[in-house]
Amino acid sequence: MSEGIPVCIAGTGSYLPEKVMTNADLEKIVDTSEEWIVTRTGIRERRIAAEDEFTSHMAAKAGAKALEQAGIEAADIQLIIVATITPDTLTPATACYVQQHLGAQGAVAFDISAACSGFLYAMKIAKRLISDGAFENALIIGAEKLSAFINWEDRSTCVLFGDGAGAAVLRKAEKPGDGEILATEMGTDGRQTRLLNIPGGGSACPITINNADQRLATLAMLGREVFKHAVTRMKQSAEKVIERAGLKAEDIALVVPHQANLRIIDAIAERLDVPYDRVFTNLQKYGNTSAAAVAIALDEANRSGAIKKGEHVVLVVFGAGLTWAAGAIRW
Ligand code: UT7
Repeated sequence: MSEGIPVCIAGTGSYLPEKVMTNADLEKIVDTSEEWIVTRTGIRERRIAAEDEFTSHMAAKAGAKALEQAGIEAADIQLIIVATITPDTLTPATACYVQQHLGAQGAVAFDISAACSGFLYAMKIAKRLISDGAFENALIIGAEKLSAFINWEDRSTCVLFGDGAGAAVLRKAEKPGDGEILATEMGTDGRQTRLLNIPGGGSACPITINNADQRLATLAMLGREVFKHAVTRMKQSAEKVIERAGLKAEDIALVVPHQANLRIIDAIAERLDVPYDRVFTNLQKYGNTSAAAVAIALDEANRSGAIKKGEHVVLVVFGAGLTWAAGAIRW
């Protein structure tokens, strides 16, 4: 299938809240250990947003940095898509608050909910809308305040997640080698909704005075099962975009995967036959920030010089739904 008029990533940005929560801090809250968390996940610390710091605030800060790098004024951005499972409010969309924070009054703004895969879902949607000529540019953001949806008494989940935001500006590529998005792919398996969800707080299970003590509006996960699906789906998804982009594993300078677990990332690198030094990780510092994770990682890889102009980058993600997605970019 044709990928249409070339669209590129013109700038990236990210924002992490100041407060650091270490594994030692978690040892004081739940029955866990630094040793368990590091060997099972690779995570050493995560960031926690302030009480009055919402998903939209973090999203806008990451978005402003991406706009600055792209050299585009907020007033000139035409589309804002925020991927999040931790919106400021159920309605309106977090993207509407972001539009207001940025002063991007000319933009159409909406959210998408695809959990950890949301940023790449947003990338595919924005790419298509730009290549079809509906918009000239777009600001896509993955942003989460997961700390507000964690059961801090559940050691099987509370050690895994963190808060933050990452963003990218997309526009029509002016010339080849402009950060062009070469291929994208995404998928969903709704048979597996039970594996990872926030069961309460929606219309199926509103929080009432009778169930308020059950913490139903917090993240629940069957980790071991999710792990197996993550490895299979991310491997398949990455392989598809590599092939669609006309590339081979050895052409990939950097894989930027979803940052959930170092063991998952190791397994994917091995199955894709990509050496570990060509895989970007930062989950050690931030934990799993769901939709924000791959966006923050992409921005850090970009700004640290881990990706150089003309090199091929593969992004690959996986999350609740189950959902998965991948993208191949010529940087
Ligand atoms: O971002 C969306 C996608 N999410 C993912 O990709 C996450 C996928 N899953 C994972 O990363 C891993 O499954 C986890 C990190 C969540 C868990 O690691 P695991 O090696 O699969 O551990 P497990 O759930 O099988 O639990 C092993 C043991 C259990 O004890 P028993 O039953 O063997 O006695 C747990 O109770 O570890 C125990 N455990 C803990 N111990 C200390 C679970 N959480 C903790 C903890 N500290 N925080």
